[in-house]
Amino acid sequence: MTMDWQDYEQQAAQAVTNAKAAPALEDVRVAWLGRKSQLALALREVRDRETGMLLNGIRTRLEAPLGEREQSLAAEELDRRLREEVIDVTLPGEELPLGHLHPITQVRRAVEDAFLGLGYEVRDDREVETVEYNFDKLAFLPTHSARSPRDTFFFDESHVLRTETSPSQIHVLEEKPPPIYMVSIGRVYRRDAITATRYPIFHQFEGLAVDKGITLADLKGTLLHVMRALYGPTRRVRFRTHYFPFTEPSIEPDVSCGICDGAGCRTCKWSGWIEMGGAGMVDPRVLANVGLDPDEWGGFAFGCGLERTAQLRHDIPDIRALWEGDLRVLRQF
Ligand code: DAH
Repeated sequence: MTMDWQDYEQQAAQAVTNAKAAPALEDVRVAWLGRKSQLALALREVRDRETGMLLNGIRTRLEAPLGEREQSLAAEELDRRLREEVIDVTLPGEELPLGHLHPITQVRRAVEDAFLGLGYEVRDDREVETVEYNFDKLAFLPTHSARSPRDTFFFDESHVLRTETSPSQIHVLEEKPPPIYMVSIGRVYRRDAITATRYPIFHQFEGLAVDKGITLADLKGTLLHVMRALYGPTRRVRFRTHYFPFTEPSIEPDVSCGICDGAGCRTCKWSGWIEMGGAGMVDPRVLANVGLDPDEWGGFAFGCGLERTAQLRHDIPDIRALWEGDLRVLRQF
C-alpha cells in the first residue's frame, strides 16, 4: 500500500491549526509526529535517499507550525488566566493566630520599666550558684535552715540551685565600685512540694542600692514608686520589722490591698495589706565581705516574687496556673 504523503502533511497541518488547547495540540503531535505515527514508522523503514528526503521534509515542515501553535496557545492561556483569575489584594487576608507574652514575662517587663525609670541597671545572674555566694557572703549563719539539703537543691557540697536572687548583690558589688543601683530578675529554686501557693521553681526581682547617705526613707520611696507602677497610683506601702541575714534592720514591705483599698477582704485576709517580700538596709557584714567600708557606704536591698506580683495583678488564686502552660488559662492575661 502506498501512502499519499502530501495528503498526510495537509491533514496534519490542518489538525495543528484546529487544536484549541495545549492538551489537544499534544494529541496532534503524538498522532502525526510521535514515535508511533505513520510518518515515524515510515522513516524507520526508509531505504532510498529520495523517500528519506521527502519524509524528513514533511517532518521539518510540520514541526515549525506545531512549535508556533504551542507558543500561541500558551500565551492565550496566560492571557485568559490573567483576565479571569483576578486577585483583589485589598481583601483582608486569612487571620494568623498571634500569641502574647506570658504573664510572668509581662510582669518582668513592668518591673524592668519601673526600675529603668529610676536609673537602675537591669541584670540576670547565674542560676547555679556556689554556697559562698548564695549563703556565706550574704552572712547566713552556719546554722541557717536554708543551708540544709532538705530546703535547697545541692549539686555537691559547694554548689546549689540559687534559692534567691540575693547573690546578685554580691556579684554586682564585686564587679564595680559604688554607687550602685541595680535590679536582678530571674529564676530561683527551693525544695518545696507543689501546692496552690508554692512551686519549687519561681522568679524573684532583687533590688540593691549602695551609695552614701542612704536611709530607710529612700527604700520606702523606691518601693512605693515600684508598687504604684505595678499596681496603680493609689497604692500605699507600709513596713513590718523582720529578720534577714543580709540586712539590718530588716523589714517586710506590705502594699495596700487593691481589692478593698485597705478596708479588709478575703484577698488580704481582712488585714487591708498584702505582703510583698523582704527588704532592709544592707548589713555592714555584707559590705565588708565585698571589701567596702561600712562607715563610708550604705544601702538598701529588697526581694519580691514575680509570680506573686502576677497573681496580685491578675487576681490568679493558684500559682500552678503560671507554670502549667495551659493556653485556656494563659490566653486570659
Ligand atoms: N532573699 C529573700 C527571700 O528570698 C528576700 C529578700 C529579703 C531580699 C531582704 C532582699 C532583702 O534583698 O533585703 O526570702
